[in-house]
Amino acid sequence: EKGGYDYFMLKEIAEQPKAVADTLLGRIDPSGSLTLDEVRISPSELREIDKVVIVACGTAFHAGLIAKYAIEHWTRIPCEVELASEFRYRDPILDGHSLVIAISQSGETMDTLMALRHAREQGSKVLAICNTNGSTIPRESDAVLYTHAGPEVAVASTKAFLTQLVACYLVALYLGQVRGTKWGDEIQAVIKDLSRISEEVERVLETMEPVRALARTLASKNTVLFLGRHVGYPVALEGALKLKELAYMHAEGFAAGELKHGPIALIEEDVPVVVVVPSPRGRSVLHDKIVSNIQEIRARGARTIVIAEEGDEAVVPYADHLIRIPATPTLLQPLVATVPLQVFACELATARGNEVDQPRNLAKSVTVE
Ligand code: F6R
Repeated sequence: EKGGYDYFMLKEIAEQPKAVADTLLGRIDPSGSLTLDEVRISPSELREIDKVVIVACGTAFHAGLIAKYAIEHWTRIPCEVELASEFRYRDPILDGHSLVIAISQSGETMDTLMALRHAREQGSKVLAICNTNGSTIPRESDAVLYTHAGPEVAVASTKAFLTQLVACYLVALYLGQVRGTKWGDEIQAVIKDLSRISEEVERVLETMEPVRALARTLASKNTVLFLGRHVGYPVALEGALKLKELAYMHAEGFAAGELKHGPIALIEEDVPVVVVVPSPRGRSVLHDKIVSNIQEIRARGARTIVIAEEGDEAVVPYADHLIRIPATPTLLQPLVATVPLQVFACELATARGNEVDQPRNLAKSVTVE
């Protein structure tokens, strides 16, 4: 069952390159454009959309936060992301021109289901991104884009998250393609990069031994903080969530720019801080800012664990531990940056003697509100 791994979670982490490739399969045609025939919302309807609203819970919500950056950049359509449990209680503004995207691995999460029902009552179209064929959320949606992660057994979501990201990028790129934006060339280039990304995830997996060794040295810590900017911010949130649920440690993710607005007060001698560093190529201003954040926290005694692109030398002097990830376009970086955080949380849970696949108090699918 576990294919020689000690835990389903380890098996599912290892399956990520395949899960990512399978989710892309048949959706990029040989000419390099996207064919999402499954999205049974016609191109003319998609051209009428003036707002995208993403609803989801937990890890799927983090995928939604990342999707916002991609959708707004490639399509110029305003995009909101909201916790499904909050959504319908605030009387959200929706109409027939809003596209609501409900992201759910199980397809049975009650809060997400109630949010999409509310959206359909307002006349909005709902597109589900889901990993479970025939589950309730896709059945009640106007259209569905399935993620092909295969069954996810471990309670903590790993491969489903990566495939949710892939599905979100596909939707963003498809919307961009259908509506035509000034980013046409970039969209073409990113589609090419996406088709190679599964190999990059594989490369990350091959270099995880130092991350495991590092995690074991931190087993007696009380707190781990995570920092990121841009799409690295939701990655930081996801790293913190994985650590909470698996290692039962206090873990928090912050936007690095928020440090000086409060969280920096938490920095004390030897507290581990994981920093997700954006690529120094492309939007280099983001990179420079985060390098100064790393300097700041290190000057206050933090133990810096830096996740940075291969070839990024600027971070070296300030990194107590350096985790290298392959160079990717900025928006795609979460696909490679999340993997070390999953491995880190899994190893810490093991080192602390926790049950990896069945963390205390948690259920795989939350069918109550
Ligand atoms: C975290 C985790 C949960 C789920 C959340 C939504 O590792 O697994 O946070 O992501 O309960 O579940 P789905 O995606 O099934 O709607």
